[in-house]
Amino acid sequence: MRIKPLLAATWVNIGLLFVTTAHAQNSNTIMVQVNKPVAEVQPAMWGVFFEDINLGADGGIYAELVKNRSFEFYQPLMGWKVTQSKFNEGSVLVMNRAEKNTANPRFIRITKDAAADTLSITNEGFRGMGIKKGLRYDFSVAYRQPAAGLTVLVELVSMAGKIIGGTTITPVVTANEVWSKAAASFTATDTSLKATLHIRFEGTGKIDLDMISLFPEDTWKKRPGGMRADMIQLLADMKPGFIRFPGGCVVEGHELSTRYQWKKTIGPVEERQLSINRWNSEFAHRPTPDYYQTFGLGFFEYFQLAEDIGASPLPILNCGMACQFNTAEVIPIDQLDPYVQDALDLIEFANGDVTTQWGKVRAQMGHSATFNLKMMGVGNENWGPQYVERLKIFSKAIKARYPDFKLVNSSGTDPNGERFDYLNSELRKMNADIIDEHYYRRPEWFLANAARYDNYPRNASKIFAGEYAAQSDHTVSIENKNNTETAIAEAAFMTGLERNAAVVNMASYAPLFAHIDGWQWTPDLIWVNNLQSYGTPNYYVQKLFSTNKGTNVVPALMDGKSISGQDSIYVSAVIDKNTGDVIVKLVNASDNPVSKIIELSGAKKFSATATLTLLKSNAAGDVNSFVHPDAVSPVTSATPVKGNKIAAVLPANSFSVYRVGMK
Ligand code: AHR
Repeated sequence: MRIKPLLAATWVNIGLLFVTTAHAQNSNTIMVQVNKPVAEVQPAMWGVFFEDINLGADGGIYAELVKNRSFEFYQPLMGWKVTQSKFNEGSVLVMNRAEKNTANPRFIRITKDAAADTLSITNEGFRGMGIKKGLRYDFSVAYRQPAAGLTVLVELVSMAGKIIGGTTITPVVTANEVWSKAAASFTATDTSLKATLHIRFEGTGKIDLDMISLFPEDTWKKRPGGMRADMIQLLADMKPGFIRFPGGCVVEGHELSTRYQWKKTIGPVEERQLSINRWNSEFAHRPTPDYYQTFGLGFFEYFQLAEDIGASPLPILNCGMACQFNTAEVIPIDQLDPYVQDALDLIEFANGDVTTQWGKVRAQMGHSATFNLKMMGVGNENWGPQYVERLKIFSKAIKARYPDFKLVNSSGTDPNGERFDYLNSELRKMNADIIDEHYYRRPEWFLANAARYDNYPRNASKIFAGEYAAQSDHTVSIENKNNTETAIAEAAFMTGLERNAAVVNMASYAPLFAHIDGWQWTPDLIWVNNLQSYGTPNYYVQKLFSTNKGTNVVPALMDGKSISGQDSIYVSAVIDKNTGDVIVKLVNASDNPVSKIIELSGAKKFSATATLTLLKSNAAGDVNSFVHPDAVSPVTSATPVKGNKIAAVLPANSFSVYRVGMK
């Protein structure tokens, strides 16, 4: 609905309105009653959904710069190039010790017979390596050298072919085939968006190499082998209430053998068994044959990340079913036990004291304190009776041991239709704690469904809007854009989520990250290249809701009704008992400005000035980019409050957040 405003708002004509309409409600007045809280806003209401899609983990937040560092990709030398002055078939051999080391079977053996020859291997990184001038880089490698003879020269080479940093390693002789580790750091002399790593061998001899690694110094919290700080900072800035991980479809796997198994992602990184990423071959239109999961970023690191950014962890576990869009494999019921045990063990890993089997493992990894895990998802987008049958077994076992633990249950892939109706009814019969609903829909759907939860039952299962994003084109189209129109439609929908906080307890946009040269799915909240990251207009909408979450929903009414599309506007309001503010969120989804009076009631006094944070742009199609990362971003200003009234002018396609102090 796009309606032109009848009256341009100025303080003169709004003043007239004040005089003539006094305290009466009319369609120009939004009444916000701050002393009538209708529901609590859950502390974890607005969160983030992290999945290793679009190079989200490897090549993304996991700051490792070397791709295929332990030669475990299906093509063992994928990402590597061998260069030698004299062809020698055996100079670089891929060795397989599968029987001795199933988690990390492969390594390479370098043999160089003549000192005068040249031999090098080059790693291309994840679409190149982002290198910053003046920053320290930490190189490491596991090796065995039976006799002295080889020197290893490590060099970073820029896109222009210039050496921009390096170090030399003189390996010692390692006895009895025991692996040793060499590490050396150096400072980059220049910046390059897509550098490569050259490793040259001088002298003669043999050496075995594995786990060839390069990390920048400036990881998140400066943790060695850690995460990319700029990307994590964008998450931290959102102050998310929860972080859902590790997906998404990667939880399910293309087939059961490639499902996500958390136990394989903890402990020493060299013992974490690599797996193909199910997004590797998912879309013929966006093939990513080099997409694997090294699990350098594993469940311990996810819990630690949640703790770092003050978010409740929300792991999603495989329920004994592979992706139903792919193989749809299910594990027979009589073989489901190990899957259920994984769930129980994960709770112990997070919450068990250091004397428990899994609590001890956590402590050995450096975290004696518990991670305070309160909830878990069983299954991602699974559906059908086969899901319900398995879910019941999980629920029974988990609740028997942890009665207060909350379980998130899947309602499938879509917010309506037969699959949804079936699951919605079955899950409610089971008194599901939290039902996970997903919506990848056009902006019009989000506007039309802003009142979706107004009539959901209050005293039954709670809702997790677990994955949503407005699609400017259509789902899985590569034309989808993160533009103002989609962001505003999501903001409108989110006013409905907030208004219904009594039933909607959590929400997260999806997916979270995308690498500009390695994505499979769009739209995405945050876009990155090897050196930069920026938030989309949709990111700012999420951030504005999360950082203005408040503690209690209060009524915001026009003509006595909640505001969900009248005059193309969408409104919700909360009070924040911690700061003593009332926060009113208003979305104008039309192409024209709309003027309204916000009339506050229920407090003795309101501050004379409100803070207005406004997200708008000139055109609905506007986007952010690496060149203009803040083109569509919020601007904060002070605006007068006359007594208890604010003259709000809502620009076309805008999201306004008013924050007013109360006494
Ligand atoms: O967010 C991208 C994908 O969309 C998720 O992996 C899946 O759960 C959904 O279908």
